[in-house]
Amino acid sequence: MAVFLTVALLATACPLLAFDMGQSTRCVAIPNQMNICKDVGYSEMRLPNFLGHSNLEGEVVPRSEDWKPLLQTGCHPQAQAFLCSLIAPVCLDTFFQPCRSLCVAVRDSCAPVLACQGHLWPEALDCDRFPAEEDMCLSPHAKFNDLAKVLPKPACQACPSLEEAPAMKTVLDAIFHHDFAVTAKLHRLRHPTGEPEFEIDGRVEFIRQGPLLPYDTRHLLQQWFLINLSCASGLVRPGRSQLYVLTGSAQPDGALALTLVFPWHRKDANIAGAIRKWKRHRC
Ligand SMILES: *[C@@H]1O[C@H](CO)[C@@H](O)[C@H](O)[C@H]1NC(C)=O
Repeated sequence: MAVFLTVALLATACPLLAFDMGQSTRCVAIPNQMNICKDVGYSEMRLPNFLGHSNLEGEVVPRSEDWKPLLQTGCHPQAQAFLCSLIAPVCLDTFFQPCRSLCVAVRDSCAPVLACQGHLWPEALDCDRFPAEEDMCLSPHAKFNDLAKVLPKPACQACPSLEEAPAMKTVLDAIFHHDFAVTAKLHRLRHPTGEPEFEIDGRVEFIRQGPLLPYDTRHLLQQWFLINLSCASGLVRPGRSQLYVLTGSAQPDGALALTLVFPWHRKDANIAGAIRKWKRHRC
């Protein structure tokens, strides 16, 4: 009865609401297999969800997997909350949608990443569909948005070139002519089963720090490798982790682009020599 009343009220109060709420709804536990929304902060979801899906095993759970590659990039701190509020809406007495402002914030950060992965921002997530007034909807955290504007972030870009066994001068030039250079151990899982396929093992060491932040760089590189998986797969072989020197520059919009990638094998003296020379030159 309560549900029916809410639906009736909402239908009169929000005639522009794009979702079809003219059907009865039910609450179910968020299934364990629905990884992306399992830890979203509530345990029961409403069916059908805001995308109109009502078949839990056949539709809702499998479709939720589509979002994993995007969410794993960490494209926006509230991307998970936003998506889950649509695909696994919290089970309250009222329908609780994301606010338009949250949709816009997530879309602005994540649509370019989604485009890099070969998908358009879906029409079902058109931000104009969501309530413009800030009450009774899931709103953006101002601090996240402010932070997102100042932190360097990875972006979709042409794939950097991989140079095996480079000459000392090549590496030295690369460090010299780019804003930053780091060493990082990259690990590509042989059989990823749900977790991100690429990881950064251990610490990222700065050769040239440039615009990079000490505490953020590992995370930033990890995100970079998850944005374009086919590019990353061409750079890193699956199996044991491998040390690399990565150089890149900040773009005018603040995004970071990687330009050159050098695998650093243990017996490769040229890279060590180049780093030594660079450090001596700087003092
Ligand atoms: C992603 O990487 C692939 C492989 O290098 C490349 O062909 C493609 O252009 C990249 N995608 C984008 C959108 O830059």
